[in-house]
Amino acid sequence: MNITSLSCSQCGEHYEPGKLYNLCPKCDKPLLVHYDLGCVAQTLTQASLTTRSADLWRYREVLPVEREDNITTLGEGWTPLSHARRLGEQLGMRHLYIKDESLNPTGSFKARGMAVAVSMAKELGARKLAVPSAGNAGGALAAYAAKAGLEAYIFMPRDGPQANLIECQQCGAKVTLVDGLITDCGRIIAERKEAEGWFEVSTLKEPYRIEGKKTMGYELAEQMQWELPDVVIYPTGGGTGLIGMWKAFDEMERLGWIGAKRPRMVTVQAEGCAPIVQAFATGARVGADVANPRTVAAGLRVPKAIGDFLMLDILRRSGGTAVSVSDAALTAAVQEIGAAEGIFAAPEGAACLPALKKLLERGAVRADECVVLFNTGSGLKYLDIWQAG
Ligand SMILES: Cc1ncc(COP(=O)(O)O)c(C=O)c1O
Ligand SMILES: [Zn+2]
Repeated sequence: MNITSLSCSQCGEHYEPGKLYNLCPKCDKPLLVHYDLGCVAQTLTQASLTTRSADLWRYREVLPVEREDNITTLGEGWTPLSHARRLGEQLGMRHLYIKDESLNPTGSFKARGMAVAVSMAKELGARKLAVPSAGNAGGALAAYAAKAGLEAYIFMPRDGPQANLIECQQCGAKVTLVDGLITDCGRIIAERKEAEGWFEVSTLKEPYRIEGKKTMGYELAEQMQWELPDVVIYPTGGGTGLIGMWKAFDEMERLGWIGAKRPRMVTVQAEGCAPIVQAFATGARVGADVANPRTVAAGLRVPKAIGDFLMLDILRRSGGTAVSVSDAALTAAVQEIGAAEGIFAAPEGAACLPALKKLLERGAVRADECVVLFNTGSGLKYLDIWQAG
């Protein structure tokens, strides 16, 4: 095993691996995993990757699972990095790419985090896994828990996408619909988990979903021949993907695979729920709790993120920014991306396009720069938006 320890992202306290953890027992903030990268480098080299599996387990040495038979996989990761030529042309850009996460099992990037979190939960002896979910995380947990032979308990806001509810039920999860927000779902789990014997796999509240998500950063570098783009535009709710990619860049630099250059990281949120955008603009270290979050992009309806301070720090350190877009703009962008590139994007992913347009207008991104938009999920999960409209 290559893990040396886990450490708290706020107080820095170290914890030994090999046990189930949620938040830091001292300060209730997310824990991060550390590896012996010298040991990793003995077998994981850039050259070794050419013969490895076309999924995220190609980066096995920087993933936490110890025993091969605990790996729970449905083929997640190694999604296409598509050169968006036609969309780029419309914007006067030659180097515009879309990392298309809709091709993951269960139709979203949440598969990456859940594949690794469920594998680790299995390895460390959890039997019943619980999660609050706006939709896609629930679907992914249901699928990976089924594959691993574990129980899944999923709490979803009643106004979430239908497809996710049906998917969870058909994959054998126990689903509870909640009249409230994702934070209310989280509160119910926190209240009941001890009595029920649930292990909570909420985003950033256990240390391994981020390890799965960080593989987006490894793939981005590998697919771009180890030259990171100038700008990454990424839709954030809880922000695990953004935090995970940043961690991957750091690990790859220490492995000697990339240099010190980092992309400017840009968070996209919906105007009706933009705590990170507001905090970024005012210079705050953490986000406020949004009172009445509203957006059709269910994954962005996160009023308060536990890792907000980590996201804000990354946006600032990378020289990036945070942009909000209207629901009208992000839904229109689903069609623009679909018609130009043949990718039926989730509304969260589509939100990257109006964000890019704003940044081009403001001069914060130049048309000759290399920009990657993250389409985090499939539009097929969101048919209710179009039916309602
Ligand atoms: C398609 C999609 N994109 C983006 C997000 C936001 O992800 P995160 O909460 O990891 O920032 C979600 C979350 O549910 C999602 O389903
Ligand atoms: Zn701590």
